[in-house]
This record gives sequence, structure tokens and C-alpha cells, in this order.
Amino acid sequence: MIRDLSLTITKEGNTLLIVPANSEKSGPASSRVPVFYNHAMEFNRDISVVLFNRLLRDGSSFLDGLTATGARGIRLANETGKNISLHLNDGNPTAIELARRNLDLNGVAMAEVSCTDLRKLLIERRFDAIDIDPFGSPAQFISLAAPAVRNGGYLCVTATDTGTVSGIFPGACLRRYGTRAIRTPFYHEIGVRNLLGFVAREAAREEVGIEPVIAFYADHYVRCIVRCRRGAGNADRSLKNIGFCTFDQNSLERRFVGFQEEGQIGPIWTGSKCDADLLRNTALPANLGSSDRISRYFELLAGENDVQRPHFTVDELARKAKTGPPKLSALLEMLGQTGKAHPTHFGPKTFVTDVEVERILGLMK
Ligand SMILES: C[S@@+](CC[C@H](N)C(=O)[O-])C[C@H]1O[C@@H](n2cnc3c(N)ncnc32)[C@H](O)[C@@H]1O
Repeated sequence: MIRDLSLTITKEGNTLLIVPANSEKSGPASSRVPVFYNHAMEFNRDISVVLFNRLLRDGSSFLDGLTATGARGIRLANETGKNISLHLNDGNPTAIELARRNLDLNGVAMAEVSCTDLRKLLIERRFDAIDIDPFGSPAQFISLAAPAVRNGGYLCVTATDTGTVSGIFPGACLRRYGTRAIRTPFYHEIGVRNLLGFVAREAAREEVGIEPVIAFYADHYVRCIVRCRRGAGNADRSLKNIGFCTFDQNSLERRFVGFQEEGQIGPIWTGSKCDADLLRNTALPANLGSSDRISRYFELLAGENDVQRPHFTVDELARKAKTGPPKLSALLEMLGQTGKAHPTHFGPKTFVTDVEVERILGLMK
């Protein structure tokens, strides 16, 4: 019962939200609260608002399948400027009570609300877009969610089991995602590509192909939004992006390859991680808390998509070259004279390039 909770009001974008008063202001929030709300996920929800402003049409249906306070779905109804047919669902009755209060607070009158196991809903209904934002791993929901998205619609998935999806915990990664992994200096990228690869393989079982709109790492989670296309041919086409990753700890060489050999990471998504044109051409509303950060992310994601190879960090290469780390901008300029080179969203000292490691090390000396 929400009358037993201590509540407060917060604002994200143009949306007011009643949330538990003890909700944390930053970092991962606890799942052991009566209703979950994590202010640090505002960036994640802002990106949904920005992209779905472009991707949804009037009348599109959107299922916020694990809605908690209703934050994401209500923000989409309130801020995309689209007349969407919103469905909020959560298995926790207290969360649903709070989500209803938040719908009222924001004058979102037409939403459908349910309190059921998301897996049941996904078997029974179809939507133009479905968001899955669980505690930890989304693995159990994907094979049900992919066929529940209408042809040409969108599946949005957050994974907060970052250590597992990124291969830091190889046993859990194999159990949960069916992916063999080792710890690498570029493990956040493995997390993003493992999530995309898992979604693609689970969707393919249901004869659904996927095309990434965006896939990224931020704060403590990985996230993707993919377009779903029905049909065996589309599933086959998306599986062409599944491959493996080689990483030689001595030479630091790394590549995506088509077939797995002993010690390689995979299966993971080795193709394009985003719709670069869409990200470059999406206008950002000024009122969002994280407009500047989104703009930086979109620019980096679109740029790094130019090269499909795991990223490097300046520090790992400097250690190998036994030299001080160069300024990233200076290194990128030198690399740009030999091949392609772009900074990435994975961190301020990261970049992707098609230049051989030996050559990069030579330039750093
Ligand atoms: C991380 S929270 C969702 C946060 C929310 N999307 C947001 O943006 O604030 C996960 C929610 O999933 C709900 N949940 C977990 N397993 C579920 C299931 N199988 N069916 C329905 N709801 C479930 C929990 O009650 C919880 O509210």
C-alpha cells in the first residue's frame, strides 16, 4: 500500500513523478524497496523520449512492461508529442498503485494499466514498442518479447547485470547469455555486443530479425533499442552479424571473426551497433536534464560505428609501448593519417581504429 510509504515529488523532463522519498540520487538503486525508482536512470529515459519522438507515430502502442513508478511510459506519453496508446505493467501491486497516481498527476488519462507477470502479458498481446527494464538481467523475457513486437516495431532492453553481461563473471555469462567470455580491457563493449547478440539469437528463434537503433553502455548498465522485422529471411540477415572476438593479451591485437576457436569470446554481435544517420539527425529538446550528454553520446556512437573492431584505451597501449599516455586528440590525428580513428562513448580515453596495433604502438613511441 502506498499510504504506508514516505513519498516525494521529483521532475524528469516535463514530467512530475511521485517517488519513494528514500530513492537514491545517483548510482544503482536497491531492488529491496517497496517501489523502485532510480534517479540516475533519467539519462536512459531521456534517450527514450528523444528517440521515440522520432520513431513512434500517433496511435502507436507502447508497453512499459516493468514500469515500477510508471516513469518511462508516462514520460513518453507526456513528452514525445505523440498520441501514443500507453500500457503500463508491473507485477508489484504497490508499484501499480503509485504508477496510477503518476498517470493522474500528469493528466495521462487513456493509459491501460495491468498488474501481472510480464511473461504472461507478452504471450497474450502485441505492441508497436516494448520496454524491458528489469532488476539485473533481461534474459528471461527476450524470447517472449521479440515476437510480441509488431513488424517494424521496437524492442528496448536494459541490462544492469553489467559484470555478467560484460564477461567479468564468465560462468554467469555462459549460464545466462550462452556466451563464452574472458575479462578484457574493453569489457563494456563486450557487454553491449553480448546483449545485442543475445537479443538477435533469441529473436531469430521466433523468426524475427533485429536492426540496432542504438546500443550503449552508461553508468552501471547496458542498453539497446532494436527495430524488429518479422520473417525467417530477416532473422537470417540479422544472424549474419553474430560472430566472435579474438583478443591476444600479449600483442593487444583484437578482431571480430566469423568462427569460434579456443579462447575466443562469443557468440556476440559484431556488426553495426546503431543507426548512425538517425542519431546524427535527431533534434534534442533543450528542456531535458541530460541534453548535453545525449548530444555527446549520439555524436560518439555515430562516429565509432564507422569501424567494427573492439575499442582500445590509451592507457593499455601506453603501458605496452612503455611510454606516457598521449593526448587522445593527438593520437587520433596521427592515426587518421593512416586509417580510420574515432573516440568512443566507452570512456574519455577510448578510441576505435582499423590501424594495426604494431603501427599504433610505433606512433606512440
Ligand atoms: C528496475 S524496476 C523498473 C524500473 C522502471 N522501468 C523505471 O524506469 O523506473 C523493475 C520492475 O520490474 C518488476 N518486475 C520484476 N519481475 C517482473 C515480472 N516477471 N513481471 C512483472 N513485473 C516484474 C518489479 O516489480 C520492478 O518494479
